[in-house]
Amino acid sequence: MSATDSTNTFLEKAWSDHGPKLISGFSRPVYHNLMGLLGGRRYDKRAYGGMIRHTEAAMLSHWAARVPPGGVVVEIGCYGGLSTSYLLRGLKKRGGRLYSIDPFNSDLDRQARLTDHLVPLDNKPTRALVAERLRRNGFDGLFELIEGYSQDAAAHWDPSVKIDFLWIDGNHEQAWRDFKDFQPHLNPGARVAVHDAHPRYGYASVVEDVKRIFAEGAWADLEHVKSIISGRKVG
Ligand SMILES: C[S@@+](CC[C@H](N)C(=O)[O-])C[C@H]1O[C@@H](n2cnc3c(N)ncnc32)[C@H](O)[C@@H]1O
Repeated sequence: MSATDSTNTFLEKAWSDHGPKLISGFSRPVYHNLMGLLGGRRYDKRAYGGMIRHTEAAMLSHWAARVPPGGVVVEIGCYGGLSTSYLLRGLKKRGGRLYSIDPFNSDLDRQARLTDHLVPLDNKPTRALVAERLRRNGFDGLFELIEGYSQDAAAHWDPSVKIDFLWIDGNHEQAWRDFKDFQPHLNPGARVAVHDAHPRYGYASVVEDVKRIFAEGAWADLEHVKSIISGRKVG
């Protein structure tokens, strides 16, 4: 079976409504639920206006804790800093650095033109509020919040900063573009995870983009956690 065939088989199973999802193989729901209970309810989802489930949250910490020492995590789509906090919780163990990109509450007219209308623009958290929240959570010195759009951040990315974990949860109509823009900056074996990438729990546009992303080259350690599809890029 070719790399693309095995990835397609994985995606078909991940998105299937039929049959039990076994612990080993394409999905590990018992493990994910256990992780979610142990580490996925630490931050106040409602207060943060967060959009991830507890199982997803716990796995973000889990993956971030597995980057190499001093590794780099990039988040596209921070909103109120919920997923950011879980990423930093894992990354803190590796002494790494996180860059999180979001327009926050800047120029809302421009956001109305450039974003996908799936996230309310009223009362959008400010960069200052999220930074303060992350400091209170114990992450001072570990993060940089980039106020702007992923496509602009990618165009000005310092090529010496290589990425070990790319988490895509920004504009739901440009997951493919986000992946392609940051692909040149991924370290070999970097993890990529895409949110809202399940036909039932996510958005059709992201599902289509995820098919393209994971059809590109070779991947290892593919995982499906609720609406997240993730894998390590190995070729
Ligand atoms: C679904 S929310 C992120 C939720 C967050 N990851 C969490 O789980 O708590 C998507 C965010 O991405 C932002 N966004 C939209 N287009 C973007 C882009 N091109 N670059 C960066 N962020 C973007 C939106 O404004 C919004 O704040």
